[in-house]
Amino acid sequence: MQDEHNLDFDKFDEVMSPPPAVTDFDAVVDEAISRRGFLGGVLAFGAGTFLVSTTAMTKGVAAATADRFGFEGIAASTADTITLPKGFKWEPVVLWGDPIKPGAPAFDHDTRGTAASQETSFGDNNDGMSIFTRDGRTVLVVNNEYTNRDIIWGNRPDNKPAEDDDIMKGKMAHGVTVVEVTSEGGRWKVVQDSALNRRITPDTEMALEGVASGHDLLKTAADPTGTKTLGTWNNCGNGQTPWGTYLACEENFNGYFSAADEEHKTSPELSRYGVRSTDWGYGWAKVDERFDVSKHPNEPNRAGYVVEIDPWNPDSTPIKRTSLGRFKHENADVVLAADGTVVVYMGDDERGEYLYKFVSDRKYSALGDNSGALSSGKLYAAKFEADQTGKWLELSEAATGMTNAEIAIHTRLAASAVKATTMDRPEWVASNPVKVESYVALTNNKNRGVKPNAGGDDTSANPANPREENLYGQILRWMPDGEDHTADTFTWNLFALAGNPEVHDGTDRAGSPNINAGNMFNSPDGLSFDENGMLWIQTDGNYSNAEDFAGMGNNQMLVGDTQTGEIRRFMVGPNEAEITGLAWAPDRRTVFVGIQHPGEDGNSHFPDGGTTVPRSGVIAVSREDGGLLG
Ligand code: FEO
Ligand code: CA
Ligand code: CA
Ligand code: CA
Repeated sequence: MQDEHNLDFDKFDEVMSPPPAVTDFDAVVDEAISRRGFLGGVLAFGAGTFLVSTTAMTKGVAAATADRFGFEGIAASTADTITLPKGFKWEPVVLWGDPIKPGAPAFDHDTRGTAASQETSFGDNNDGMSIFTRDGRTVLVVNNEYTNRDIIWGNRPDNKPAEDDDIMKGKMAHGVTVVEVTSEGGRWKVVQDSALNRRITPDTEMALEGVASGHDLLKTAADPTGTKTLGTWNNCGNGQTPWGTYLACEENFNGYFSAADEEHKTSPELSRYGVRSTDWGYGWAKVDERFDVSKHPNEPNRAGYVVEIDPWNPDSTPIKRTSLGRFKHENADVVLAADGTVVVYMGDDERGEYLYKFVSDRKYSALGDNSGALSSGKLYAAKFEADQTGKWLELSEAATGMTNAEIAIHTRLAASAVKATTMDRPEWVASNPVKVESYVALTNNKNRGVKPNAGGDDTSANPANPREENLYGQILRWMPDGEDHTADTFTWNLFALAGNPEVHDGTDRAGSPNINAGNMFNSPDGLSFDENGMLWIQTDGNYSNAEDFAGMGNNQMLVGDTQTGEIRRFMVGPNEAEITGLAWAPDRRTVFVGIQHPGEDGNSHFPDGGTTVPRSGVIAVSREDGGLLG
């Protein structure tokens, strides 16, 4: 039975705040009709131009000729383990609850830890991660997005917190983990006594920096200056800057706030972000009053940002970069334009929200101080046109009627004001290192063509989000005009429409021609390029392996050749897990991969098997012969 404790973010938001019913049904029908005309046009790999023969693709087997994959695609699987192509192996590196401080206790499968043990251990439900290397040392920085309450409190009656320490354990399992790792005898392990190891939690002091810093909407009783705050939580995807810092992105920050008075009405601005009088079962307001939104209504305005962290200085204060906007941040893909301007692409992962771009006022300096690179710049939201052109709409004071600080705090309202394109839940953005183009995973959107977004904006099907009740998701790419990431215009097409050609042959739910019985998947989420320009795709979708999702198996990781459109399945995860987070060791002989929420509905014992508690973690994948990956 699902209770509110194990509803995921989407389901909970749906239950708590059903968006208003669609009012313009005619518009939906019109779009559905015209869609048949434009789908063929926007698909990058339409039937006529597809370079890989359908026969070879249908078998899901690597072509015999030389290719850029370096592995044979594998079949779907429902095994409670990691499945890889022939010639590859995996090992766990660090799991939820593993100690990362000297003297910290090992994970206890009976109690599942305490607040104190969790604060000195790897957090739960790891998501985005980056690798940093210096002077022969290797550091992983990993987001710990949230907790499965049924698992962390699985030792308690009804899987509910029995005492305040249980709630604090959950709180301390959130945030970011910085951990040094080393390869010894061919195996990766945590350097438990490294001085670099650090837990950044919802209680770590942080700066509120940038255009909104000091604004009245950021001031609270504890911080009348509106310039400093405590902590980060629900860190989903990530980013890595050319100057060696880590970006942790705050996504579903809203689900942690509640009001002692359940009749309390939150403001329309907080409602747009899903802040309500009840939380999602974490109970933080019981142990920390700032999460009571009736008492501290500005506290939620201090979350929903991109947080910059210096992994090499464990005493550094993380900085919330308000100029990059406030929304349910997925990741932050940092690219340098040809002139050195710093550009950051960012998705807002909620049905019918937007895709954003930040263009810094400053240029990157290879030898200089880049601490101000994310301090000020222009923010844009994307508009996709039917003729496969597009425009970045500036969120300026003139265009939105809001001040720049208000735009940074109520960014969703600003993007609605300029009428950007409502998207099918933008997850990760990744930019090709060998070509000036970027990709975004639009994971799914059952409300497309059904209901407006939380701001009441129309979400009829549109060229970039062409399928109503979008079950499977799509990957869209854009090419900035003039091969310049600072350009405010671009062309675009769809790299892949996920689908199920076995169940839905002949309809748009079959997906694009590069989707076949051998590689089908749903809900693309994590995206990352390797240095050869191959696109790695991670999924966070429906793992029922039944009905619309029959034949897809567990969540998985695939690799796409962005030149030919061919997609192969590289890895399948354990039961009820999502694959998220990817980082290559500099020697390209190991890729670190995140396994999140195995057994979220009670049906996994990953990775230890038997009757053990399922644990999220980072695994290392390599070739059995130690060879190069890709
Ligand atoms: Fe945390 Fe949008 O995934
Ligand atoms: Ca995600
Ligand atoms: Ca997701
Ligand atoms: Ca997730």
